[in-house]
Amino acid sequence: MQFFGVPFTAFGDDSLQYLNTILGKRALIVTDKNIVKLGLIGLIGAELKQANIDYMVFDEVEPDPSIQTVMKSTAIAKDYKPDWIIGVGGGSSMDTSKSTLVCYAANITPLDMSPSDFYNLRATAKLICIPTTSGTGSEATWAIVLTDTENERKVGLGSYETLPDIAILDPRMVMSMPPQITGDTGMDALCHAIEGYVATWRSIFTDGPGLVAIKVVFENLKKAFDNGKDEDARKMMMYAASMAGTSFGNGMAGLGHSTGHAIGGLFHMPHGRAVGLYLPYTMEYMVNGSEEAKARYAVIARFCNIAQGDDKSCALKLIAAVRDLAKNVGQPLAVKDTNIKRDAYMKAMPGLVDRAVNEAMTIAVTRVPDAEELEKMFVCAYDGKPCDF
Ligand SMILES: [Fe+2]
Repeated sequence: MQFFGVPFTAFGDDSLQYLNTILGKRALIVTDKNIVKLGLIGLIGAELKQANIDYMVFDEVEPDPSIQTVMKSTAIAKDYKPDWIIGVGGGSSMDTSKSTLVCYAANITPLDMSPSDFYNLRATAKLICIPTTSGTGSEATWAIVLTDTENERKVGLGSYETLPDIAILDPRMVMSMPPQITGDTGMDALCHAIEGYVATWRSIFTDGPGLVAIKVVFENLKKAFDNGKDEDARKMMMYAASMAGTSFGNGMAGLGHSTGHAIGGLFHMPHGRAVGLYLPYTMEYMVNGSEEAKARYAVIARFCNIAQGDDKSCALKLIAAVRDLAKNVGQPLAVKDTNIKRDAYMKAMPGLVDRAVNEAMTIAVTRVPDAEELEKMFVCAYDGKPCDF
């Protein structure tokens, strides 16, 4: 048996208005200080007021949210007793809102969360996610990534109960995203869609949104990066990120995420930049040893009008197109192009490999690397050399 879950999604101009139709008494908004400063919470509050819902704002979410932050927001929720939790922001805020729902409604701590337990969370509160970036797709998935700061490790959590009830994709929320975040998060969306399309846990239901999301990212990410006021490109990127979330959230991500999470945990590189950096190297590795991945990449390349012809040449042209797009949206193409020194990276290698080996994404691919191959991939990505094995 397989599953396919998507939240009820309100999208398009003024879609925040959907909030004034919900029923309830109190909402806890989980966000960060920058979103408050941008005035975006005011737009949400105005709609909640119309729905006669009181709200409170927890704005202490940091990038790579920690377990301690979730403990804080949970303490506030236990005191305030909301019947809605509303995550507003990028993946960090949305993942914190999901974790808050679980810890508040099930009365547990984040690391006690088990994907196989049923907590009946909706008996206490429901969840709305409103993205302000176009990349993580967290509004469309049950996935949660927190940071265990003590062990410098990203922790993947969540269950089918942490899929938001409602996602709201209102273009006003993404219009003020700066170019660097547009580029970083856009590469995350591309990575989700490509990896979801070749993951072994994919299904016919994930194929459609995945393929469309890839095409939309190729057509719109550079436009949104070059001109943040391009409403149409912003809108399309917002939708693509959510579709990509639907795709990988109901399937799985891949090696770009397992390697990207590893460097993110140890060197604090932004998530989208990290996974986007490793994506082409891991794709080369897949092409070299997986006929299935090669054929799937070729389908993507043809669908996106990147190339026509035999599978190998199409797959390689897709990888080249990923690198071109990354370059055009301000992304480093190799770890050496970042501020991470080679010595420090090599010294951290056992930790990088260990983290990547232990990620679920490492086993849901059509060619599963061992520790030695992962190390070689990490080295290639540092030096900017193709993965030729
Ligand atoms: Fe991601």
